[in-house]
Amino acid sequence: MTIGKVSLLFLVSMIGKSVGFSVGGTFLSAAQKAALEETAAAVATPGKGITACDEGPGTIGARFEAVGIENTEENRRLYRQMLFEAEGCENYLSAAILDPETLYQRSDSGLLFPEVLSKKGIVPGIKPHLKIYTLPGTNGDTVMQGLDSLAVRCKEYYDAGARFAKWRSPLVIDMAKGCPTDLAIRANMHDLARYALICQSEGLMPIVEPDISLSGSHTLEEAVDVNIRVQSELFKAMIDHGVYMAGSTLKPNIVNPGKNCPVNYSVEEIAEANIFVFEQSFPVAMKGCNYLSGGQDLATAAARLSAINQANKKGPWNLSFSWSQALQLPLLDLCKGEDELQLEKMSKLYIEELKIAGASAKGEYKWAKGDGDHVGTKKEALEPVAA
Ligand SMILES: *[C@@H]1O[C@H](CO)[C@@H](O)[C@H](O)[C@H]1NC(C)=O
Ligand SMILES: *[C@@H]1O[C@H](CO)[C@@H](O)[C@H](O)[C@H]1NC(C)=O
Repeated sequence: MTIGKVSLLFLVSMIGKSVGFSVGGTFLSAAQKAALEETAAAVATPGKGITACDEGPGTIGARFEAVGIENTEENRRLYRQMLFEAEGCENYLSAAILDPETLYQRSDSGLLFPEVLSKKGIVPGIKPHLKIYTLPGTNGDTVMQGLDSLAVRCKEYYDAGARFAKWRSPLVIDMAKGCPTDLAIRANMHDLARYALICQSEGLMPIVEPDISLSGSHTLEEAVDVNIRVQSELFKAMIDHGVYMAGSTLKPNIVNPGKNCPVNYSVEEIAEANIFVFEQSFPVAMKGCNYLSGGQDLATAAARLSAINQANKKGPWNLSFSWSQALQLPLLDLCKGEDELQLEKMSKLYIEELKIAGASAKGEYKWAKGDGDHVGTKKEALEPVAA
């Protein structure tokens, strides 16, 4: 009797598993869902993170020219080749985000870069958004363009070997001006949700990136408030759009006080703020997040990521990095005063940096005292003294 009841319950729960629970991804086959989920799990591999090198030719060019390197397609190719082929980088990298130009370039070996990456177990991905656009009538709030042509481009990128995409929606906190406005939060998070939906239908695992800038003078408490508003709007929009949550991951900013915030915060307080934000609304259906660096240098970003992982006692998510400038600016500094890319020196330093990043993603990086703390800016330092 009891045995019969138990097995009936078991049967009902099995049926529930196969036919029910379809809140998102109803437009996807079981195989498509499994593929997206597999990519999300690979990107969220514990202790590994993402090398973000999706700067367009103009942005990377400005960084090259700042250290005296000519901005040619060949230099861009050589530089990205180093980022992908540095010996042992696959021990710390789960994924790489590429600019469309890089997706179609080849390594010296003759292989296309997505093939080079896939062979090393690094998932190749793409940045499919276009240029930023200022919303008229707001105090400078923006949206990202590129949704109209997205499906066609996603198809091309998938065929070229990309398996995920990343769309960045930047927002700026300015408490005095009331930014970001509710309108800007809604518009940007809905765009991210629509982007995610389109990506999934084309086979690309979407990384959603709400990027709240480090600039400003807001406190950590104010940042927590804005981050919760932004993230809860994002996840609600994704669910409303029917995005398959388990087949997507998050690339958020580290929740920080503004760069010019006058109040001091320890790295542990910053870590706690980040976990608090996630506890409010980050779905556990999503496998993980890879924080952006957004102007924090490597020592700061690594200390904060390591502290966040140490503070993450309850969350099931794998919390790691998706860094561009924090990794790349020190590499480019090695080229100062030289005429050419110092590829060998750069690749050695890059591996040292990745070791630090990988340890932070496990909460094992031991930061130097003071690293990752926010030291309040004195008010006098901010306002020019009237002559
Ligand atoms: C984090 O990674 C581990 C190892 O791959 C995995 O077992 C776990 O499910 C991941 N967390 C989530 C929320 O997927
Ligand atoms: C903030 O930190 C700095 C550097 O550690 C210290 O000099 C300053 O006194 C601190 N300010 C406050 C209000 O504690």
